[in-house]
Amino acid sequence: MPMVEIKHLRKEYKDKPEPAVKDLSLELEQGDIFGFIGPNGAGKTTTIKMLATLLIPTAGTALVDGIDVVKNPEKIRSIIGYMPDFLGVYDDIKVWEYLDFFAAAYRIPKDRRPQIIDDVLALTDLNVKKDSYVESLSRGMKQRLCLAKTLVHDPKVMLLDEPASGLDPRARIEIRELLKELQSMGKTIIVSSHILPEMEEFCNKVGIIERGEMIVAGDVNTIARQVRGHQNISIGVVDDIERAAAILQGMTDLIRDVKVTNGLRQLNDADGGEGRGQTLQRESFSTKGSVLQVGYIGEPDNEYKILTTLVEAGIKVRAFYTPETDLEDVFLRVTKGQVA
Ligand SMILES: Nc1ncnc2c1ncn2[C@@H]1O[C@H](COP(=O)(O)OP(=O)(O)OP(=O)(O)O)[C@@H](O)[C@H]1O
Ligand SMILES: [Mg+2]
Repeated sequence: MPMVEIKHLRKEYKDKPEPAVKDLSLELEQGDIFGFIGPNGAGKTTTIKMLATLLIPTAGTALVDGIDVVKNPEKIRSIIGYMPDFLGVYDDIKVWEYLDFFAAAYRIPKDRRPQIIDDVLALTDLNVKKDSYVESLSRGMKQRLCLAKTLVHDPKVMLLDEPASGLDPRARIEIRELLKELQSMGKTIIVSSHILPEMEEFCNKVGIIERGEMIVAGDVNTIARQVRGHQNISIGVVDDIERAAAILQGMTDLIRDVKVTNGLRQLNDADGGEGRGQTLQRESFSTKGSVLQVGYIGEPDNEYKILTTLVEAGIKVRAFYTPETDLEDVFLRVTKGQVA
């Protein structure tokens, strides 16, 4: 049974002609980390709020762990952890009191709460702030505290609406590490974001939503292949690069497009919106030797044929791998940049 099963979900807001979410379907298995990606106004928050039982769908169904979010909201709230896109303000309350408050709201018995509070503080690396006032925390710490709060009742499914928004790079990395930890604990997570390159590192599935419609959804690499029509493969060779390139160029049934690079990849963002314009430089692997980039167009799982051919021809292959999918690129291709 899928952990999350959304079918034809739709949400219309009063006095808004177009639905915020229309005919959205999605299935997630236990342990999936789903990156929910889309431009402003696409319908991410609306979808997440329907799953969190805070908005009633106009049509369609959503089940979490087999439970209907509309028919049984009480039960749903006990198995989900929802982190909203905007944090509430809590004055004159200490970190542990804040967590104790939510633990009490989840009806966790008083004698069990101190241990749970210590556990979630340890997980979010906030132990030292236990007796600090919430308002004295930095934004990144507040964000982590909010995550700690969503964990007090040990939810099966976490709904995180832009957990890393407004954070500096270090704080974003901390959130990312935390999400990886939750992933290793077997949680099913839906996380929305605009910051795409961050998602690909820990999401096994992604969906791109635009104007209330899921344009593509599924496994990260499959989506990239759908969009691009090919899968990038990087091949590092010790020497003989020209001969290697010639062999690859001859494999027209498996490969299209052979490029020689120096092992560094540059992602350049053309338009100047938020978080754009900067050049990300990633080292795919050591720059020693040369790297060939090919576009693989063969059947899935037949990539080894390329490797076999090279090795049999005596080429000294020192690396052969599929680089991380460049989600930013996929995103820009499938969305037309229209905002609902
Ligand atoms: N309470 C509301 N009443 C009317 N329209 C709303 C309401 N909340 C959201 N909308 C509209 O629904 C659409 C989807 O909004 P939503 O907040 O779900 O998008 P989002 O993908 O979360 O965007 P962002 O990236 O900016 O957070 C938008 O057009 C928005 O204006
Ligand atoms: Mg939103």
